[in-house]
This record gives sequence, structure tokens and C-alpha cells, in this order.
Amino acid sequence: MALKETLFLVLLAIHLVAAAIWVGGLLFFIFAVVPAARTAPDADIPARLGRAFRPVAWVALGTLVVTGPLLLFIQGLGAAVLRLGFWRSPFGVTLGVKVILVVTVLALTLWHDIVLGPRSQMVSDPGPSRRVGRAIGLLSLVIFLAGMALAQGF
Ligand code: HEM
Repeated sequence: MALKETLFLVLLAIHLVAAAIWVGGLLFFIFAVVPAARTAPDADIPARLGRAFRPVAWVALGTLVVTGPLLLFIQGLGAAVLRLGFWRSPFGVTLGVKVILVVTVLALTLWHDIVLGPRSQMVSDPGPSRRVGRAIGLLSLVIFLAGMALAQGF
């Protein structure tokens, strides 16, 4: 196997593992941790688990943001993204949507972790941070599906 091909597969594997950790962690939080906390609201479960998982989640997200563009470069698409025509192709449209969603998820996650999380603890109202958390989970799932479309070439 050519070196370039091997490197592509290694990067794709890292990208996929990071995506599994990020999306899987979010969905576990939404569908297991938050419902569990409803039965024991005093135990502060989401805040404790959130703090424990946060470094892992940020490393996963950072890995995705680094390996994603590298996947483009290694396929020789680094210069192509500078052409307007690229963004009109099916691959370009999917990539454009994906990048916009990734930027949105990054902004929402920062807002959630820095502003909403600490505030919801202070005022004992987890509502806003849970709603934004669900939005992050849903958008990340769409990003995951967009990634699968890219891997199929569109
Ligand atoms: C939350 C962030 C992200 C998630 C969850 C994610 C997820 C995925 C997934 C699941 C795949 C499918 C791989 C396969 O089926 O083989 C993929 C592929 C891909 N991703 Fe991402 N990704 C993220 C961020 C990014 C970013 C920021 C970029 C680039 C700007 C990017 C570029 C790509 C490319 C180019 C592929 C296709 C590789 C190929 O041609 O096979 N991704 N991504």
C-alpha cells in the first residue's frame, strides 16, 4: 500500500474514533445521564460527569477539527477549496454544510461549558444548558452523517 494511502487510512481511523467518542459521549449524556439525574436531582450527577468527561470531549473535538482538514489535504483537495466551483459540487456543498455546523457546534459548546453550565449550577436551573446540550448532540449527529456522505464522495 502506498504511503499516502496508509496515511489517509490512519487519519480516517483517528477521525472516526474521535467522532465516535464525541458523538457517543454526547448521546450517552443526553439519553442516560440526564434521565438518571431526573430520578435523583440532588446528586448533581450531570455536573459531576460533565466535568469528568469535558477534557476527553474537547480532545475528541480538537482531534476532529485537526484531522478533518488533513483528510482534505491528503486527498489533494487543499488547493481545490480555494476554487468557487468546488463549493458548487455535491462534495463541496456537503463539506460547506459540515464546516458551518462544526463552527456552530464549537461556539455552542464553548457557550455551554463556560457560561450556561456554571450559571445553571448557580441558579439550580439545568434547563438552558440541557436544551443547548441537546442541540449540540443533534447537530453533531448531522455532522456525523455529513461525514459519511463525504466518505462516499458527495
Ligand atoms: C464534530 C466534528 C466532526 C465529526 C463528528 C466528523 C465525523 C465524520 C465521519 C463520521 C466521517 C465518515 C468517515 C467514513 O465513513 O469513513 C467523516 C469523514 C470526513 N470528515 Fe469529518 N467530522 C467532523 C469534523 C470534520 C471537519 C472539521 C472536517 C474538515 C474541515 C472534516 C472533514 C472530513 C472529510 C474530508 C471526510 C471524508 C474523508 C473521505 O474522503 O473518506 N470533518 N467525518
